[in-house]
Amino acid sequence: MFIHRRRGWEIPESQVTPEALFHRRALLGGVAGTLGAAAMVRPAAAWSLFDSKPKAPPAPLKPLSAPRNDRYPAGRAITPESAATTYNNFYEFSEDKSLVDEAQALKTSPWSIEIAGMVKTPRTLGLEDLLKQVKLEERVYRHRCVEAWAMTVPWIGFPLADLVKLAEPLGSATYVKFTTLADPKTMPGLHKPWYPWPYTEGLTMQEATNDLAFLSVGLYGKVMPPQNGAPIRLNVPWKYGFKSAKSIVKVEFTDQRPKTFWEGLQASEYGFWANVNPAVPHPRWSQAEERLIGTDEMVPTKIWNGYGEFVAAMYTDKTGERLFA
Ligand code: MTE
Repeated sequence: MFIHRRRGWEIPESQVTPEALFHRRALLGGVAGTLGAAAMVRPAAAWSLFDSKPKAPPAPLKPLSAPRNDRYPAGRAITPESAATTYNNFYEFSEDKSLVDEAQALKTSPWSIEIAGMVKTPRTLGLEDLLKQVKLEERVYRHRCVEAWAMTVPWIGFPLADLVKLAEPLGSATYVKFTTLADPKTMPGLHKPWYPWPYTEGLTMQEATNDLAFLSVGLYGKVMPPQNGAPIRLNVPWKYGFKSAKSIVKVEFTDQRPKTFWEGLQASEYGFWANVNPAVPHPRWSQAEERLIGTDEMVPTKIWNGYGEFVAAMYTDKTGERLFA
């Protein structure tokens, strides 16, 4: 029987049963969770009982530098690199935040991106070729997870709008769908069949061509580490972090709103728009504040994650849509 379990990151740490206690419960009572029981337990911890954790030390990352674009000041201290690269969400590898070791199995070279759907010429672009056609820059963005934690990260990459331009979409395309790597040989999470793999995300064309939408290939002056979504990931800083798909292999242009990974699991809690708003709580926790990774300081959350002046106008004609969850 298929049992729909809630995933670990759907429960903020404040509501999570301490792991040791949960492990005891799991051993005493079995790990099957129902929707009703799920709010009490943390399936992530349960499944980590069975995850194998291959230990491979992280490879040293190559330096990567690009001029900083200061047009979007973060107004916050940059999160220490050691924190931003060791506290991650990447369900293909683990439901735990400490997945650095598992993620080292990600093979990032060669890497190509399929450009598909409503474009002038569908094709596959090698990442190296793509990088020759864009200009890298560094942007320090606030990064806000739906779980109510946040970081401030110096990403290196290029505007998603540049890729959209290279793709030459047809005028009739209204959405962009992102599909990320799904390799059962290196990604243990792919063997958890209750997830609707592969991880997919979507934006409207207007969002995808907003200057803030960014494709990152590095952070902190280095190439992107596997755990943060090597070799290329999205950053959509005015939306909750789950919109920022990691390890992208396909970009598809379409006139149908894509159904995203988390929508597929729990549409009532993770909608398509997922714009940050402190006044709209997640059904199971408040979004009014966020915990800064690195210092654990609690700070008020800002609407649109503080990027309203650049993005709010895109939503003025969308009354009646569930824009914030
Ligand atoms: N992309 C893939 N492919 N798989 C994932 O599990 N998790 C998302 C997003 N992108 C995820 C993903 C979530 S929930 C968040 S908050 C961010 O990645 C986390 O990015 P970070 O680990 O670099 O902070």
